[in-house]
Amino acid sequence: MVMLRLVSDPSGTSWPAPARGTFEISDFRFANGERLDGLRLHYQTVGRLRVDDRGRATNAVLIMHGTGGSSDQFFRDIFAGELFNPGQPLDASKHFIIVRDGIGHGASSKPSDGLRARFPRYGYRDMVRADHQLLTEGLGVNHLRLVMGTSMGGMQSWLWAGMYPDFVDAAMPLASLPTQIAGRNRMSRKMIIDAIQEDPGYDGGEYTEQPVQGLKAALNVLTWMSSVPLLWQHEAPDRDAADEFLDKRMANSLQTTDANDLLYQVSSSADYDPRPLLKNITAPLLAINSADDQVNPPELGILEEGIKEVRRGRAVVLPISEATRGHGTHTYAALWKDELVRLLDESQPLYSPLRK
Ligand SMILES: *[C@@H]1O[C@H](CO)[C@@H](O)[C@H](O)[C@H]1NC(C)=O
Repeated sequence: MVMLRLVSDPSGTSWPAPARGTFEISDFRFANGERLDGLRLHYQTVGRLRVDDRGRATNAVLIMHGTGGSSDQFFRDIFAGELFNPGQPLDASKHFIIVRDGIGHGASSKPSDGLRARFPRYGYRDMVRADHQLLTEGLGVNHLRLVMGTSMGGMQSWLWAGMYPDFVDAAMPLASLPTQIAGRNRMSRKMIIDAIQEDPGYDGGEYTEQPVQGLKAALNVLTWMSSVPLLWQHEAPDRDAADEFLDKRMANSLQTTDANDLLYQVSSSADYDPRPLLKNITAPLLAINSADDQVNPPELGILEEGIKEVRRGRAVVLPISEATRGHGTHTYAALWKDELVRLLDESQPLYSPLRK
């Protein structure tokens, strides 16, 4: 029995306190040939790793955040408070939960550390390979009971399950599609990239003050990309409330966003295309989207087609309700945790715990 210290958010919900760490890869080679000496990956873990009598990890879970996010986004009542407590689906007294900041995000290596636009142009596959190295070399995790993620982390879950099929017992991508970033999604990203680069203040990435005009335009596109008509109508039910909602959101984002970091984050999906990997996926995979997700809307039919390629794949599209949160439904665990429990039941752990 692991004793877990609890932390809580202002709502009074509690979850086990994470431990933080940083893993450094001395000479990381990116898929495009660029290199970085000293790639840092910051991570948070909850629980304790268990291995079987042959040293194989039995209880590790990797959770990956979305574009512009970080590991911190999961330590909230709506996620950690629904999943990591005793008796909950990813009970931290039984699981070893790893939540990392992907390359270019959070406290991991990123352009704003100093290299600016000379930072290597990373892609999703680089992020997944670096995470694999963090797990195997940094944390002694040679097998995952579950890989899951939201949005970009959802897309990376498809990649993980296809690139390292023997490494995972189960995969759960949330708010993602198993295809190249194209159509409205790619166009939105191009708008963000162009808005930043075309601001004269951007100066090829060598700005001393944020290129505010371009950055604002980029953040507006980002807001629009994942907007939630029903929820926002409720949260901003009259003209002034809507203006205030947007102004607050913009002010917050401007304080925390660096133009190069955002440019890189939004660009990094350029290499994403899991289609050639779908037939390589052997583990049960459960993809969850929601019908009000403007980034991955159900009328595209891409999830339904792609999931047929996955031998043990299943897809669920949550209907729009008063409780769904558009693209952000992915972090509201109460809305899909029953499905997670079903996935864990359906999938057999390849290795079983050492019983003492
Ligand atoms: C498919 O899975 C195998 C392991 O079973 C792995 O070696 C291979 O790299 C994967 N294919 C691709 C295209 O990643």
